[in-house]
Amino acid sequence: MARAQYGAQAVVGLRGSLPNPFPRTIGPNAGKYLQEVIDSGLTCDMVGRFEKAFAQELGVKHCIATPGCTPALAVLAAAFGFAPGDEIIVSPITDYGTVQGLIRENYIPVFPDTAPGTVNMSAETIAPCISDRTRAILAVHKTGLVCDMDPINELAARHGIIVYEDACQAVFSRYKGRYAGTLALAAGFSFDSEKTLGSDVGGCVTTSDDGLAERLRFIGHSRGGEMIPHFGRAHTAPGYAHRMTQSTAAITLAQLEIIKPQVEKRDHMIRLLTRLLGQIPGIVPLPIPEYVEVYSCWMAGFSIAPGVFKCSGEQFADQLAKAGVSGAGQGKYYLMPAALSFLQEKAAKKVYPYSQPPASRSYHYSADSCPNARDFLEHFIRWSTFCEKYEEDHCELAAQLVAEVAERNRA
Ligand SMILES: Cc1ncc(COP(=O)(O)O)c(C=O)c1O
Repeated sequence: MARAQYGAQAVVGLRGSLPNPFPRTIGPNAGKYLQEVIDSGLTCDMVGRFEKAFAQELGVKHCIATPGCTPALAVLAAAFGFAPGDEIIVSPITDYGTVQGLIRENYIPVFPDTAPGTVNMSAETIAPCISDRTRAILAVHKTGLVCDMDPINELAARHGIIVYEDACQAVFSRYKGRYAGTLALAAGFSFDSEKTLGSDVGGCVTTSDDGLAERLRFIGHSRGGEMIPHFGRAHTAPGYAHRMTQSTAAITLAQLEIIKPQVEKRDHMIRLLTRLLGQIPGIVPLPIPEYVEVYSCWMAGFSIAPGVFKCSGEQFADQLAKAGVSGAGQGKYYLMPAALSFLQEKAAKKVYPYSQPPASRSYHYSADSCPNARDFLEHFIRWSTFCEKYEEDHCELAAQLVAEVAERNRA
């Protein structure tokens, strides 16, 4: 069995002519903040300082730091306290970390299709998936492109359901004047080493809801433990110990100090790259909707138009990687209804929570349940090494390499 690799390990051995995010650019104050943690004998509140700074930069009331976005979303799922068998509508093209917490709470993920030609779901694709068991919509801003949140929020409000965001790939992306992660009730962020705000296996939840923030700290940091006089800790909820470490907070705080110009640069470079790729016949860059003011792009990508080339998407991506676009490949594994084979099996065998009750109907997961997303990923090529080190000549080189591979394979 080849185990999945993450962070710097995932890009070991990648060769090419384009920049690689590793070794990461680290904020100049990281060493100073780490030293403070050490000199204080672990008594300083570096986590609190990071939480306050991130909440302030984003413009929300609360930031609850966690050791990653997978735990952040798991804590949110637990804090919501829905019933087993309740349905959560989730973007079909995403990372396992988006759904892990839902599965642990025995909620049932329901995957709408993506809007045609994009990586994200929309109010139109979500609407037919709403049922009387739907409790929440979890919108993922894939690659850093923000979902069109206003219609999603309006739809949810009409049905009395919660909306929250997975803003892992979209830190400081801006939608109609507002940052990703401030567009719904709450959001999860990742500060994993490979992410845009690359730290060291960190993350957080953000929200402006005081009650939810308190509940998140209780469930996520205090392990659901309440202090009872003359007794001590009574665990009134099955909580987690998902606290960020002081040393991670030190690095993350230093990274936060340098992130905004990096995001502006990513936005500039991805728009240039999009324009250049769009000039190559048969190459369809990922569209950037007008409502996206800042595209904090974590992953660059484009589609090959069907029928234009004599090779498959996978062959095109392989040739592109060999030509020098480091990290070029396909992301078919991001199609959650196809990638979650254990869930396919549970749903097919009607194993809890797919038994009835708590489920109120049958479920089936496969690539074919989201045909837009399936077809999109069939033709989509992305590179996971797009980063703040890109300059204009790197965009020109990337587009030139794509054009060369395109010419070689034209049908
Ligand atoms: C969209 C999305 N959600 C969740 C996660 C999980 O984040 P973490 O690795 O911080 O747990 C990732 C990580 O790649 C992601 O891309």
